[in-house]
Amino acid sequence: DRSIKIAPSILSADFANFGAEIQAIEAQGADWVHVDVMDGHFVPNLTFGPMAVKAFRPHVKTVMDVHLMIAPVDPYIDAYAEAGADILTAHVEAGPHIHRTLQAIRAAGMKAGVALNPGTPAEAVTHVLDLTDLICVMTVNPGFGGQKFIDMTAKVRTLRDMIGDRPIHIEIDGGVDPTTAPLVAAAGADVLVAGSAVFRGGSVADPAPYGANIRAI
Ligand code: DX5
Ligand code: ZN
Repeated sequence: DRSIKIAPSILSADFANFGAEIQAIEAQGADWVHVDVMDGHFVPNLTFGPMAVKAFRPHVKTVMDVHLMIAPVDPYIDAYAEAGADILTAHVEAGPHIHRTLQAIRAAGMKAGVALNPGTPAEAVTHVLDLTDLICVMTVNPGFGGQKFIDMTAKVRTLRDMIGDRPIHIEIDGGVDPTTAPLVAAAGADVLVAGSAVFRGGSVADPAPYGANIRAI
């Protein structure tokens, strides 16, 4: 479906070649570039921080979609604005003040996203919809690529009803592949993050599989 955006997660890229990997996935048809920031505290894994994200920026010609799996969030918002994030997504579980966090993200000049872990209900965002540009529905417990998809289609349908005619993206993150993508798209998701399903079989030296994988989703 052409109206569905594919956002490859560079969590599954070659960590020694981020610039070339970003260029390769964009050349192969990525709509956005999804950047997974993990702190070893909110999630049991570590990736990179604002200095690395700033270094990715000149390579991203589409949209840099930064998913923060960190707690706390607020002390780092300005650093990610300076790093050039277009969309900055914080988890509702990362602290007691998601309302303040979303306001601060927008005040720093970015689009504001809110992410929901699999165990968190759709209703957690009821009172922040007017501060939100994107809702990220996690379909794995965050921390690692390559995990098995957890069916959250009922949550996606509930969110679509709650959103009404507001211009809010519903993004799905985790275990998206050609089998699971149609389920979440039918439920109302419009941005699909995919890591392992995009990067498998390809490389910077042989990026054509990235394109085939993107088109297969
Ligand atoms: C999970 C990350 C995802 C992950 C997706 O913590 O937020 O973006 O990289 O990877 P796949 O598509 O392999 O499940
Ligand atoms: Zn992510």
